[in-house]
Amino acid sequence: MLKIDIATLFPEMCEAVLSASIIGRARKAGYLDIACFHIRDYTADKHRNVDDTPYGPGKGMLMQADPMYRTWEAACARRGGRPHVIYMTPQGKTLTQERAKELSQMEHLYIMCGHYEGVDQRVIDEIVDEELSIGDYVLTGGELGALVLADCVGRLCPGVLADESCFTEESHWDGLLEYPQYTKPAVWHGAAVPEIITNGNHAAIARWRREMSLKTTFEKRPELLEKAALNEKDKWYLRTIGWTEQTEKEP
Ligand code: ADE
Repeated sequence: MLKIDIATLFPEMCEAVLSASIIGRARKAGYLDIACFHIRDYTADKHRNVDDTPYGPGKGMLMQADPMYRTWEAACARRGGRPHVIYMTPQGKTLTQERAKELSQMEHLYIMCGHYEGVDQRVIDEIVDEELSIGDYVLTGGELGALVLADCVGRLCPGVLADESCFTEESHWDGLLEYPQYTKPAVWHGAAVPEIITNGNHAAIARWRREMSLKTTFEKRPELLEKAALNEKDKWYLRTIGWTEQTEKEP
């Protein structure tokens, strides 16, 4: 079972999210082992300070190396081994579904959340294996990133989703976006469910869904098609809606 530790100044924020919904249920059922470590519990001074002013000119506060380091030591001791350490920062590589899949196969992840203006570089240099970002924007701290990462990696672990075909059939498994889906009633606000999925046979529905995935991807995120696994039939369909294969990159 995958172990995920989150080192944070806001464990209650992380616990609130990770106790709800699918991840919360998976934790209770024993498919995921997630723990939050409160960095303030691992300070050496009696005021439980975790931050200080930066050396050199500059405003704001930085998180000190020592509480961060001691929190990591506590997690190693509790779990009995050295985890793969990830620091959430806009400087990191952007999280992808592919990387999430690889991380879900590890034994123990330790996610470090920074706050204030950042973290003393020395603890990053000493314990961090990988820096990850959840997008090109700046958040007030690493927690939202850590929660995105834990959710995205957690749902890929065996037993977490009831039906494993959920994540082989959906968005991004082969680099395409999802086809549109419909539920009851058959007509809503005058709009009917596409005829093929109410009357079609399974093969026709599968073909329609594939084409809708291709079309949606072409219209919304055409750059994804460059890396998607496309067969000849897919390419033929895409050409009918105006796609042209780029065989050469512009210099
Ligand atoms: N911390 C602050 N901004 C972040 C981002 N975009 N991704 C991950 N961690 C962050």
